[in-house]
Amino acid sequence: MRKKIVAGNWKMNTSVQEGIELAKAVAAKAGEIPAGVELIVAPPFTHLVSVAEALKGSKVALSAQNCADKEKGAYTGEVSADMLVSAGCAYTILGHSERRQYYGETDAKLVDKVRLALDKGLKVILCVGENLDEREAGRHFDVVSSQTKAVLYNFSAEELKNIVIAYEPVWAIGTGKTATAEQAEEIHACIRKVLADKFGAQAADDTTILYGGSCKPSNAKELFAQPDIDGGLIGGAALKADDFIAIALSF
Ligand code: PGA
Repeated sequence: MRKKIVAGNWKMNTSVQEGIELAKAVAAKAGEIPAGVELIVAPPFTHLVSVAEALKGSKVALSAQNCADKEKGAYTGEVSADMLVSAGCAYTILGHSERRQYYGETDAKLVDKVRLALDKGLKVILCVGENLDEREAGRHFDVVSSQTKAVLYNFSAEELKNIVIAYEPVWAIGTGKTATAEQAEEIHACIRKVLADKFGAQAADDTTILYGGSCKPSNAKELFAQPDIDGGLIGGAALKADDFIAIALSF
């Protein structure tokens, strides 16, 4: 049985103090979440060490939102996979559409990042998703398939065990427009097929695929009820502990 996950991507929000409070509020309620559901929070880099401390003794895992494509050295402003591990991270998000769109993150760069993250012992939440033009042109299956292949076909079935995929249609992120459960499900099923073609049915079946894009307490239940949707990557609604927990209670 593949793992169910609800992950909170805080993006560039909260002060360190606010982040600690949010993490404590999530940790305090994490006991309400069924045993088979993993909770993850992904604060900004500056918060990681303090949030790790705030989460101690809880079952909430810590993730970064990005990591460097180089191991170490003269790369001013970058944060390495080793640093994330030493700060207490179990995961890093990679390839979020905001990184692809605003910071020039390419599939080729993502291969290097995923490689380093896995080699250093981090699990990866790899984001894929089409933008509005691509959806309107009917290219969403092609775009998501090729993003998935371009990165993940460089890895082995063994490595895939430490990779979670998040399908996030760009037109649904932060817009209040959620993909319908049917729209999300058909892409999730397509991603699973792309995985099965390369890694076999069992490996594809064991991979957790999250939905992200305006997921909130009012729509999580319907989304999570789909056979290929294994949880969510939550942006805006992850900034309120009660909403985040309510989403995790939606399975
Ligand atoms: P949103 O963001 O829930 O605010 O739409 C999701 C994400 O970008 O991960």
